[in-house]
Amino acid sequence: MSSVPIITIDGPSGTGKGTVCSFLANWLGWHFLDSGAIYRVLALAAMKRNVTNDDIQKLSQLAVDLDVEFQVQGAGQLSHVVFDDEDVTDDIRTEDCGNAASIVAAIPEVRQALLARQKAFHQPPGLVADGRDMGTVVFPDAELKLFLTASAEERAKRRLKQLKDKGISANLRDLSDDIAERDARDSKRSVSPLKPAEDAIVIDTSDLGIENVVGNIRELVIKMIPGVS
Ligand code: DC
Repeated sequence: MSSVPIITIDGPSGTGKGTVCSFLANWLGWHFLDSGAIYRVLALAAMKRNVTNDDIQKLSQLAVDLDVEFQVQGAGQLSHVVFDDEDVTDDIRTEDCGNAASIVAAIPEVRQALLARQKAFHQPPGLVADGRDMGTVVFPDAELKLFLTASAEERAKRRLKQLKDKGISANLRDLSDDIAERDARDSKRSVSPLKPAEDAIVIDTSDLGIENVVGNIRELVIKMIPGVS
């Protein structure tokens, strides 16, 4: 096990992962890897460059060369995502970009091409890593592995609220369908499918407010990571 500790948080979207990761990175003063953002930027880059999903060689090369910068604000708070000198922070958060990311993420060569980039986030004093395969594939030796779940219905409701808060209209039915489709694709792919690591602690957040989720995880971190109090 490395001397630089890692906490991995995996699970589908809408489970509170992002909020938990921001809290942990901020509280601990550790680095933060939003691996989903990398797949999202790659999907956006492919769209901008007209690289199709069946052109695996070009897609993998794009993944290796991807000129992306994650700007952080304070400890571990991701504030801006810059691709090719353009601020794409909002562009990568659309439903379309999430779906496109899920499609490119199912290609084994693409995942391989992005592995070193993700591992490079493992720097002192520690790392909080958010994704689908952080505990199973990218950081299998992490000190603490969490896997957050929530019912598809609850996740769709949370997503609807998030979009409404941003002034974006959407309907629950479409969001539920999107979520079900994305879950199926992420869970059934041949490489690095979305699943808890054998040694992960699984937390169902369906009936928990986010403050409770964060509070419970804070307690777990204090118990399991040496030196944290
Ligand atoms: O976490 P997110 O919604 O930003 O991720 C977008 C997509 O990227 C997700 O549907 C699947 C893919 N992804 C992945 O395959 N592996 C990761 N570690 C993170 C994201």
